[in-house]
Amino acid sequence: MRSSALVVVSAVALATAVSAAPVARATAVLQSAAGGKVGGTITFTKAEGGVKVAAHITGLTPGSHGFHVHEFGDCSAADFTSAGGHFNPAGDPHAGPKDAKRHAGDMGNIEANQEGVADVDYVDPMLAFEGPTSVLGRGVIVHAAADDFKTQPTGNAGGRLACGVVGATKAP
Ligand code: CU
Ligand code: ZN
Repeated sequence: MRSSALVVVSAVALATAVSAAPVARATAVLQSAAGGKVGGTITFTKAEGGVKVAAHITGLTPGSHGFHVHEFGDCSAADFTSAGGHFNPAGDPHAGPKDAKRHAGDMGNIEANQEGVADVDYVDPMLAFEGPTSVLGRGVIVHAAADDFKTQPTGNAGGRLACGVVGATKAP
């Protein structure tokens, strides 16, 4: 009896050691669709009120490009349809990042300047690193066209220019 209790205690200790500190930072490195030259890195960091999203993305055409977290962290298909639809754990309609009801993955648009560069820096209240809205292991997609925040369920943002998988990274 005493020895089985000891086994349970050491199993708990081992599980604690393996799980280490909770994830507070994640990164997605974009890969471009064939023939494109979109690149960049998106960083997700735990912040007051949600997750801070920061990105520097290059190789775009000037203007707005839909920018979403998609359901699957799978960029294996040539057209990136393997990433699935917008990440939507709550089953809400598609909308813009400032709308109360939206897909958790609706990060809105990125705005590329005349040099084709877009910078992103905001705190997203719907994303997290744990629970049903965790971004870990999901996909990030940059689209060819602007997200209109209305058309269901895609925002009519056109083709998928670049894809990245969100992976846990070492705390800064
Ligand atoms: Cu998308
Ligand atoms: Zn959406």
